[in-house]
Amino acid sequence: MKLCSVISILGLSLVSAIDPLTFKGSKIFNSKTGDQFWFKGAAYQPQQGATTNPLDPLVDTVGCKRDVAVFQDLGINSIRVYEVDSSQNHDVCMKALSDAGIYVLLDLPTPNYSINRDSPSWDVYLFNKYKLKIDAFSGYDNVAGFIIGNEITNDVNTTSASAFVKASLRDVKTYMKAKNVSIPVGYVDNDDENIRDSLISYFNCGSDPLATVDFYGVNTYRWCGNATFTSSLFPEMLAPFANYSVPYILTEYGCNTITPRVFAEVASIYGSDMQDLTSGGFVYEYSQEANNYGLVDVSYGNSAVTKLTDYNTFKTQLSKVSPKGTTLSNYSPSLKNSACPSVSSDWQVNDVLPPSPNVDFCNCLSTTFGCYLPSTFDPTNSAQSLALANQLSYLCGVVNCTSISYNTATGTYGQYSACSSVQKADWALSQNYAKGNNAASSCVVNNLNMSLNTNSSPKQSSSCNSISTTTVTSDPDPNMGPDGLSNNTKSTTSNSTNSSSSGSGSNSSSSTSKTGSATSVSSNLKVAALVLASALFFI
Ligand SMILES: *[C@@H]1O[C@H](CO)[C@@H](O)[C@H](O)[C@H]1NC(C)=O
Ligand SMILES: *[C@@H]1O[C@H](CO)[C@@H](O)[C@H](O)[C@H]1NC(C)=O
Ligand SMILES: *[C@@H]1O[C@H](CO)[C@@H](O)[C@H](O)[C@H]1NC(C)=O
Ligand SMILES: *[C@@H]1O[C@H](CO)[C@@H](O)[C@H](O)[C@H]1NC(C)=O
Ligand SMILES: *[C@@H]1O[C@H](CO)[C@@H](O)[C@H](O)[C@H]1NC(C)=O
Ligand SMILES: *[C@@H]1O[C@H](CO)[C@@H](O)[C@H](O)[C@H]1NC(C)=O
Ligand SMILES: *[C@@H]1O[C@H](CO)[C@@H](O)[C@H](O)[C@H]1NC(C)=O
Ligand SMILES: *[C@@H]1O[C@H](CO)[C@@H](O)[C@H](O)[C@H]1NC(C)=O
Ligand SMILES: *[C@@H]1O[C@H](CO)[C@@H](O)[C@H](O)[C@H]1NC(C)=O
Ligand SMILES: *[C@@H]1O[C@H](CO)[C@@H](O)[C@H](O)[C@H]1NC(C)=O
Ligand SMILES: *[C@@H]1O[C@H](CO)[C@@H](O)[C@H](O)[C@H]1NC(C)=O
Repeated sequence: MKLCSVISILGLSLVSAIDPLTFKGSKIFNSKTGDQFWFKGAAYQPQQGATTNPLDPLVDTVGCKRDVAVFQDLGINSIRVYEVDSSQNHDVCMKALSDAGIYVLLDLPTPNYSINRDSPSWDVYLFNKYKLKIDAFSGYDNVAGFIIGNEITNDVNTTSASAFVKASLRDVKTYMKAKNVSIPVGYVDNDDENIRDSLISYFNCGSDPLATVDFYGVNTYRWCGNATFTSSLFPEMLAPFANYSVPYILTEYGCNTITPRVFAEVASIYGSDMQDLTSGGFVYEYSQEANNYGLVDVSYGNSAVTKLTDYNTFKTQLSKVSPKGTTLSNYSPSLKNSACPSVSSDWQVNDVLPPSPNVDFCNCLSTTFGCYLPSTFDPTNSAQSLALANQLSYLCGVVNCTSISYNTATGTYGQYSACSSVQKADWALSQNYAKGNNAASSCVVNNLNMSLNTNSSPKQSSSCNSISTTTVTSDPDPNMGPDGLSNNTKSTTSNSTNSSSSGSGSNSSSSTSKTGSATSVSSNLKVAALVLASALFFI
């Protein structure tokens, strides 16, 4: 292995491809040697000196070559990367990593593109972002897995979000299956003792194999300083995994409340304490950033590396481990999925999953709007989205917003709830406009300071009924905006005001026009579109 690494650094192409991994039962194997595999990883998201937004360490060729050599010196075999730019080419860095025997665990969401725990939604816009990332990375031989969500639900008040994360898991796995991509997909929790048991079961339960995780991760900071396996309550953390049917990974570890760090947990993770129950982990984190977890100091585009105190400690600890396990051929597990957690005050999630986002269906919905936001509306602008959220809060008191709402505890999801936040808002605005007999005063968003568009002859919503909402395998659209529309659709839609050929004549009382009143909307239904901006903000 050492020899291969040296050769690859010299740039010779004598090295064979990295060995594929096989996830089987609760363990991972090198499919070529048949040996059990443990991630000896580091979280990798350098930020210093970044010149790009989003961050993307895998396009920084100087930084990547610099760090691949350091990874080998450190003795790791994998990195976890959180944020990349799917529109860039990652060939050079991914090949350098692969040649060095380094696997990559990649998060599909980024801080800006993630299911928001306080106002969750799984919609066409986010799915498009995930598809773009899958397409950008699924061709590399060293992608060990995708992470579908990182600490989304993080306390008892945010459990609803998990329903949407699980729907995203189902749709991402369905998409990859259609593309013949077999990369495992997993979920990562924040080690919150009040919800962890429910989460661990939830992502592993149900009869649809496309809606269960292929691995499960925890970001844990419970082991600090010279604590022990027992004193840091690791046995309690591991207990739910005794008979878990998929691999368990410490996707972040390395508490830094006591410094310098001693990394005593490394011997435990890769030793008799944990080698049977986990598939290794990722130390947090490679580069030194403001939160002071770094092993090295590095900067984008600069080949210099400064190894910090923790670097050598971690390296020494890792060099001492030698986990013992089984082999691919000797391992025949008979493990079962978990039972789904029941709904309670601490777990507001039914087994029924939210619908799949379907871009054709939502585009069709856009042709049914009589009143809609102008293309200059920016859902990522907080003043604009606040104005819209306030308007929607009012509108859904006077029109029946069931079609854009959800209730995860009962498993009830409106038929348009997987369209973009802008489409859902346009739908509610259009309901109100029709109800107000298309009076200009019914097509406004107070305090938005923008004129809304109107269309006197929108299509009827029934015209969209023939579009299958179960097809989620269409190719992504690199130009889709946060409103869920591509440039193409935008120009069509924005000209529809003057298009008399698009609809069935003036019909303001079409089937989309409900006469619901303030009291008609079930009060426990939450309007998915209410807090638009936050759906795009940091988690
Ligand atoms: C992410 O959101 C922040 C805050 O709105 C913004 O400043 C930043 O430019 C966004 N990044 C990307 C890649 O869109
Ligand atoms: C959950 O919400 C309740 C009611 O708002 C609040 O009292 C409680 O502190 C919240 N719990 C957490 C963990 O945030
Ligand atoms: C996936 O594999 C099947 C069977 O090998 C093949 O028929 C199909 O065309 C492949 N699909 C794609 C998108 O490559
Ligand atoms: C951890 O234990 C080692 C060995 O006993 C000792 O040298 C070190 O100072 C301790 N570190 C901390 C942070 O307690
Ligand atoms: C795991 O399975 C074994 C064998 O079936 C059983 O004895 C044990 O109680 C199970 N442990 C847990 C935590 O479910
Ligand atoms: C619209 O104008 C008002 C008054 O100047 C201002 O308070 C509000 O923030 C503006 N709205 C937006 C979305 O900028
Ligand atoms: C489509 O949108 C993308 C991203 O907003 C932009 O870069 C591109 O120039 C647009 N294309 C056209 C034809 O307007
Ligand atoms: C839509 O309107 C814009 C500006 O009004 C115009 O440039 C564009 O050609 C129109 N598109 C179509 C398809 O008519
Ligand atoms: C609608 O817009 C198109 C493209 O700008 C234009 O050619 C057409 O004349 C307009 N139709 C009406 C009825 O204004
Ligand atoms: C308007 O909608 C109603 C109810 O769907 C329908 O009966 C009527 O034919 C429609 N009128 C036009 C002009 O499309
Ligand atoms: C609200 O709309 C939903 C779905 O369209 C419908 O099932 C429900 O009966 C409506 N409620 C009222 C009070 O009209």
